[in-house]
Amino acid sequence: MIKIAILASGSGSNAENIIQYFLKDKNVEITYVLSNKKDAFVLKRAKKLGVKSQVFSNKDIKEENGLLNLLKAEADFIVLAGFLLKVPENIINTFPNKIINIHPALLPKYGGKGMYGMHVHRAVKENNEKETGITIHYVNENYDEGAIIFQATTRLTEKDTPETIADKIHLLEQEHFPRVIEEVILKA
Ligand code: GRF
Repeated sequence: MIKIAILASGSGSNAENIIQYFLKDKNVEITYVLSNKKDAFVLKRAKKLGVKSQVFSNKDIKEENGLLNLLKAEADFIVLAGFLLKVPENIINTFPNKIINIHPALLPKYGGKGMYGMHVHRAVKENNEKETGITIHYVNENYDEGAIIFQATTRLTEKDTPETIADKIHLLEQEHFPRVIEEVILKA
């Protein structure tokens, strides 16, 4: 059994989609949804789907015996699905090429600290980009700089707003993220 833990800070639509995708898979188990926000909607989604969840503090995540021990016991792979904290080095070093993130733009554009959610879509709009997309990548010690695994693009027109851009990105995420995770774990 391949165990995946999902780290998420927000609504959790990606987390839910991933959980649904692997629900009937006999070889893959989503063991935990872990969040740094006690009121994140992702925790309600996990409960509804029967997946264990745990909230940890920003301090827990950095401590040697905090989150790391749980992950060592409960995860072969870690998926970041809208997780807004930096993953500390002790976790990155313990899970080399085993931590996968999704970013709602075509990296290396629109990445880095502070570039998340609507901040990304507003910047894309301000620059009149003709296309945007998603980037699924491995996580290393720098925000949004790990090796790229997969990108998908969507065209934009002058009529698009940050909100419609978010909707287009959401569709790409729903279509590709679970499938790409599956590919990564099967070839590892
Ligand atoms: C997604 O757009 C994802 O690409 C980004 O954060 C957002 C999370 O949305 N990293 P949700 O919590 O999965 O609904």
